[in-house]
Amino acid sequence: MEIIIRPTPEECASIGGRIIANLINGKPNAVLGLATGSTPIPLYSELIRLHKEEGLSFSEVTSFNLDEYIGLSGEHPCSYQFFMDEELFGKIDIKSNSAHIPNGEAQDIQSECLQYEQAIRSSGGIDLQVLGIGSDGHIGFNEPGSSLGSRTRIKTLTGETIEDNARFFDNPDQVPRHCITMGVGTIMDSETVLLFAFGEGKADIISKAVEGPVSAMVPASILQLHPNVKVIVDEAAGSKLANISYYKEVYENKPDWQA
Ligand code: GLP
Repeated sequence: MEIIIRPTPEECASIGGRIIANLINGKPNAVLGLATGSTPIPLYSELIRLHKEEGLSFSEVTSFNLDEYIGLSGEHPCSYQFFMDEELFGKIDIKSNSAHIPNGEAQDIQSECLQYEQAIRSSGGIDLQVLGIGSDGHIGFNEPGSSLGSRTRIKTLTGETIEDNARFFDNPDQVPRHCITMGVGTIMDSETVLLFAFGEGKADIISKAVEGPVSAMVPASILQLHPNVKVIVDEAAGSKLANISYYKEVYENKPDWQA
């Protein structure tokens, strides 16, 4: 795991943007795994800037989002489809049929999940997965206790996640109780993972995920077993890491060939 601590979310987003741009420049038909929540918004702004100002093209890129609420249509302002259209897809040149999000309105949720896994496999697999982290350690919507080998499936949200996400809805009762999410195993199959976290509210869970034991009770901790993960956090989210000064020293003294 490489831990990168920068003063602001914007600086973290700029590092993420550069990594994604390098990937797409070397492999125009790269497959991206994308996330929702407030955390990836600065990254998506940076990708839009790279597209508009530096000509980064997503025209051959395929993407798969981590998750979607069950029962919300893509036009619902709180659906992840709507979020992605607003925050990214509508502002870059990705083809709409190449940008995949689980269908939370599918009649047969189980076969939707199987087809989603199949579509990821048929695309050649995810080259780079963007992740945020829930305050309870979830990645995607893999809540504590999720099997660390799980695949795309239906999950029930915890009370903590419903409370956290209620801010996006008019009323907490409107937050759907169920979702479709890529599994922990699906996420672990990605070639590279970038996990972002910002703000003091994420400091405890970042220290558990990065430095605590690997446990299904903190699903993000499984990333310690992934060979190519960068955890990119601002000072506040990194403030409870025991080895913070070592991580900073490593980052500041990277040999040229590695930087
Ligand atoms: C949701 C998403 C996660 C995201 C999490 C954190 O639960 N399913 O993918 O990481 O929210 O949200 P935020 O970035 O707003 O803190």
